[in-house]
Amino acid sequence: MAAEERRVPWVIKYRPKRIADVVNQDDAKSKFVSWLKSWPNVRKRAALLYGPPGCGKTSLVEAAANELGYDVLEMNASDFRRASDIERIAMRAARASTLFGRKRGRIILLDEVDGISGREDAGGLEALLRLIRVAENPVVMTANDPWNPNLRPLRDVSELIEFKRLSKRDVIKVLKRICTAEKIECENDALNFIAERAEGDLRGAINDLEALAEGFGRVTLEHARALLRPRDREHNPFETLRNIFMAKYGWQAKMALSQSQLDYEQAKLWIHENLPHQYSDPEDLWRAYEALSKADVYLGRIVRSGDWDLLAYAIDLMTAGVAMAAQNNPRDKYRWTKYNFPQKLLLMARTRKARAIRDDLASIVASHLHISTAVAKNEVIPLLKTIFTANPKYAARLVLGLSLSEKMVEYLAGPNKSLVMRYVEELKRLKEEQAKVSRAAAATAAEGAKEVGAAAASGAKVREGVDRSAKKRRQRRGGDLLSYLSKK
Ligand SMILES: Nc1ncnc2c1ncn2[C@@H]1O[C@H](COP(=O)(O)OP(=O)(O)OP(=O)(O)O)[C@@H](O)[C@H]1O
Ligand SMILES: [Mg+2]
Repeated sequence: MAAEERRVPWVIKYRPKRIADVVNQDDAKSKFVSWLKSWPNVRKRAALLYGPPGCGKTSLVEAAANELGYDVLEMNASDFRRASDIERIAMRAARASTLFGRKRGRIILLDEVDGISGREDAGGLEALLRLIRVAENPVVMTANDPWNPNLRPLRDVSELIEFKRLSKRDVIKVLKRICTAEKIECENDALNFIAERAEGDLRGAINDLEALAEGFGRVTLEHARALLRPRDREHNPFETLRNIFMAKYGWQAKMALSQSQLDYEQAKLWIHENLPHQYSDPEDLWRAYEALSKADVYLGRIVRSGDWDLLAYAIDLMTAGVAMAAQNNPRDKYRWTKYNFPQKLLLMARTRKARAIRDDLASIVASHLHISTAVAKNEVIPLLKTIFTANPKYAARLVLGLSLSEKMVEYLAGPNKSLVMRYVEELKRLKEEQAKVSRAAAATAAEGAKEVGAAAASGAKVREGVDRSAKKRRQRRGGDLLSYLSKK
């Protein structure tokens, strides 16, 4: 029996059987149990248990079911992809289950619902909501990230129950309990080491403990250090590049990217930047660039067509394709190389502000000329730049006509900015004076009108008329470039 039993992984063997066995999570426990006991007289017909991996969500549902006498009908995310599956389950769930002739309640457990993605599973999501509405049994869901936008509709119909990340102390407590039950000798430092590494994931910690105990019969810090690799952490771009180039087999190169902090778009830029530093043979380089450019074509197609099946090819090409390219001079793969940050990313970061100003400018120009912002950027802004450097006086009129900001003037005029701004100030002053003069003229006209006995109201009309003609003049001045451009 001992041999048989040993085959059951410890995470299953030591799964909490009773609610009290679930370590920590007191708030979650009481909230969940009272919700379950009051069902169907509850505010929300479903419950959504959320929290980090391996902290006891699934365990609590199973322990509560065990203790309170429920059956658990469990489904995983992949099961509720299709609406028809959910209908089938709903039918089964609607019937009360019997065991040994005794009627028992049933919990429908939908584990790891973060697997549902919005668009493609829309049918599944709909069916799930319907299931929650009609089920004669409590529906319980678990998720790691409840704020995932795809889960919003589920959130709205669910009692939200939060699980906390387990502390190091909680993890050590469970590990000790298992060691005692298994009669395994273990060093406290070793348990501490395992718990530290687990970062609150008790499942991971129990698996580590089991691996050590199985291998050595006891658990020591020395063994723990030697055997437990650092958790699969994400590699930085430099490590990623080294692993891709050094890969002996295609799968190694692919794995290097899957373990990277870089996404495939960034990885493409990094590889592109550093290929010529790693490979020296022209033919090897050609092969590598050929693979990378094909990957780029696929990535472009994915963006245009939304066909994500192509991603696998793109990734193969940019990892394995690049790694296998060093055929004439395979030693190049292992050469230590100082990798550079992709120039394109640097440039984009450096020019981010300027690009934002240019984009704002383009939308102003586009709306005035009734053209697209792309045309404004490519054809009109270069022209404006020439005007702003060659003819600051005229530029000043454009600044007022288009209400451009100082930053935009700086972008267009460069070192000429102060000159343009001086003209702008002068123009503004002139305009104010002009307005004063026209106001005075209007007042005189009104006086005159009164004298000849005309209606008092006509004064306002005259003033309005004078103002309007001033406005027209202004528009004509600011607008002559615009009308020129729009005729073009
Ligand atoms: N709070 C806990 N008390 C006791 N054991 C726990 C606890 N949390 C996790 N475990 C142990 O870790 C294993 C995994 O836990 P569980 O399946 O409940 O995690 P989970 O929160 O559902 O994680 P995931 O989000 O990955 O599904 C369980 O089999 C159990 O042995
Ligand atoms: Mg779980």
